[in-house]
Amino acid sequence: MTLTQLKQRSLLGLKDLGKDEIEAILDRAAYWEQHPNKVHSVMQGKFAANMFFENSTRTRFSFEVAEKRLGAEVLNFSAAVSSVQKGESIYDTVRTLESMGIDVGIIRLKPIGVLADLATKIKVPLINAGDGNNEHPTQALLDLYTMRKQFGSLNGLNVSIIGDVQHSRVARSNLYALRKFGANVSFCSPDNMKAPELDVPYISIEEAIKADVVMMLRVQLERHESGKLNSAESYREQFGLTAERAAQIASHAIIMHPAPINRGVEIDDEIVEHPQSRIFPQMENGVPIRMAVVERALS
Ligand code: CP
Repeated sequence: MTLTQLKQRSLLGLKDLGKDEIEAILDRAAYWEQHPNKVHSVMQGKFAANMFFENSTRTRFSFEVAEKRLGAEVLNFSAAVSSVQKGESIYDTVRTLESMGIDVGIIRLKPIGVLADLATKIKVPLINAGDGNNEHPTQALLDLYTMRKQFGSLNGLNVSIIGDVQHSRVARSNLYALRKFGANVSFCSPDNMKAPELDVPYISIEEAIKADVVMMLRVQLERHESGKLNSAESYREQFGLTAERAAQIASHAIIMHPAPINRGVEIDDEIVEHPQSRIFPQMENGVPIRMAVVERALS
């Protein structure tokens, strides 16, 4: 297999991934979701390394579950208890694991551009588990999968993405992928959390909650310069999915959130498990999606 073929199995983002490729991943995830057996042998004898240089619960564990369900041997690297603490670089860390014979690397990073650079130097397929505010492709894939399960088709779907768009890799990956399928994406954000470089219409919260999909974003305090969020209560009043606003969404609409959630800030506590909420099903769908993505990397 050539280096180019190996690279094509990497998943760095959805911006440059074709609609057909995305559809194939969604279809394969549906296959895995419906399969009666929990554990398979398609990755038997293969090693997957989950390399997280930023914190994670859902993405890290659902990749691990996905890899184990495919029969892989799994290595979990956490920067907090590694030689990164002694000053080792991201490249040297990934190169070290590659030297030990891993077959695929799943990577979450804070700095933007590092993953694209790594992909030019590392020979094994790499999967982006979230890089800065650039892309989070597997989150968007599970989001599309959740919407497709609900509505059958993404074409013409109105999707409102509400909140801290500026810091959101989830918003970007969803935007890139949803537009390939003919969905209409709108943003709703405070002025200081907008992403003006993205060509997307901004609408009011009253308009945003009329969509078929009301996707709330976490206010990413850890990425803010000081002063962006003056008051959690004021944010909730102006941009939160309060119980009053949730009562106004259409009866066919769904509520989504990539999580983790700031309960009582971007979404009221009692709305998280509202009958129209798909927040926990999103997490459930993350496993078959990541099975499909990891399998693709090794096929
Ligand atoms: N949605 C998401 O990426 O969650 P984690 O940060 O817990 O992985």
